[in-house]
Amino acid sequence: MYQKNSTFKMNKNKIYNLDVFDFLNNKVSNESVDLIVTDPPYNLKKAEWDTFKSEKEFFDWTFAWIDKAIEKLKKNGSIYIFNTPYNSAFILQHLVSKGLIFQNWITWDKRDGLGSAKRKYSNGQETILFFTNGKQHTFNYNDIRVPYESSSRIAHAAKKGILKNGKRWFPNPNGRLCGEVWHFSSQRHKEKINGKTQKLPHLTPKPIDLIERIIKASSNENDLVMDMFLGSGTTAIACNKLNRNFIGNELNKEYFNLALQKLKEYERDTKINFGN
Ligand SMILES: C[S@@+](CC[C@H](N)C(=O)[O-])C[C@H]1O[C@@H](n2cnc3c(N)ncnc32)[C@H](O)[C@@H]1O
Repeated sequence: MYQKNSTFKMNKNKIYNLDVFDFLNNKVSNESVDLIVTDPPYNLKKAEWDTFKSEKEFFDWTFAWIDKAIEKLKKNGSIYIFNTPYNSAFILQHLVSKGLIFQNWITWDKRDGLGSAKRKYSNGQETILFFTNGKQHTFNYNDIRVPYESSSRIAHAAKKGILKNGKRWFPNPNGRLCGEVWHFSSQRHKEKINGKTQKLPHLTPKPIDLIERIIKASSNENDLVMDMFLGSGTTAIACNKLNRNFIGNELNKEYFNLALQKLKEYERDTKINFGN
């Protein structure tokens, strides 16, 4: 779909401290990435980096980085983009217009209501859009099975099976297939002390168990995973844990240093290329 442009040597297992466009234009070869997992600004105006002058400016910028990022995907690569449900409705249409294939609208139930809405329901979810660049994409459904909900029925079925359409069905010992509503406590919620929110080193870290689910499902060991809005480094750390290669980027120097510091906890793993 895209032309291979670049002849420069690309560094793997390295993170950069650049603007997203400098990173995508100068550090990543086209059609080189198996999986993009990214959690960009949402224009919620919670921080300077999350504030745009207008909705138009926000979407122009968002669509521009998406256009660059998808050039980096291999044929049959996958892309997951976090955002609010409202913004995701527009991002979905943009991805469809670029010829990517819609797979899932994942609703992440954060187990942490944001609070004080009195004229509408409180926002306790984020959206993760899952698209692929082809139909022969990796999807390791067995690696992300989740526990069955009705334990007594399943215990019964495990012994005797349940008759379904004339055949006896036995539950999978590793759990059921993963659906598209995900329940993971937000990092903010996990780190509360006596119910009180703590000031975290990054404003919006994602829970690593959620990122690991995406990486397990949509990549294989030694594949290359990219996140160009790395924040505190969650995607890179998850890749390191799961034996995937990564390439990442974060503009804010303080967050970049935080991600580097967290990655250094894995220093014994010589794969990582420290520095910028
Ligand atoms: C929602 S946060 C990502 C948090 C991350 N998922 C984590 O677990 O820590 C988005 C990040 O994008 C970074 N960012 C904002 N504008 C950027 C730009 N133009 N280029 C690169 N990074 C940018 C922000 O500094 C912020 O850390």
